[in-house]
Amino acid sequence: MARINEFISHYPEGKKKSAMLPVLHAVQDAHDNWLSVPLMNKVAEILEVHPIEVYEVVTFYTMFNQHPRGKYTFEFCRTSCCSIRGGEDMLDYACNKLGIKEGETTEDGMFSVVGTECLGACGYGPMLQLGDFYHEHLTEEKFDALVEDCKQGKIKLD
Ligand code: FES
Repeated sequence: MARINEFISHYPEGKKKSAMLPVLHAVQDAHDNWLSVPLMNKVAEILEVHPIEVYEVVTFYTMFNQHPRGKYTFEFCRTSCCSIRGGEDMLDYACNKLGIKEGETTEDGMFSVVGTECLGACGYGPMLQLGDFYHEHLTEEKFDALVEDCKQGKIKLD
């Protein structure tokens, strides 16, 4: 709550809603990287908005998770620049390699694969985001190596 109140304090009286994004990030970070409906409802209560206003934000931005995700979530850009450089094929390759469909998590809870809109690294596609880091100019070999590094605990997420 101290962190949430700090975010809210950055905005004028009566404008708590303006703190929605940092508050949602903080809540998600503190709750296994996803936002349940009760959590979203609590955020609405704190920010003094209708729950639907929180749902709208959470469902719009792919950086907010509405379901539990794997420890390592590969977010593949599927927008035009990456797509024409094989982004969709890389996403399919990742799903096949991990034995899951897009949006799913492996049974051991280690890996998830999701597609996202442009991540602002259009000149370096195909690319994915893992935690706070980008992995660019992806190839199947690079993805294989990334998965191995994750399994060996070599990947820093933030
Ligand atoms: S199109 Fe992929 S990062 Fe912009």
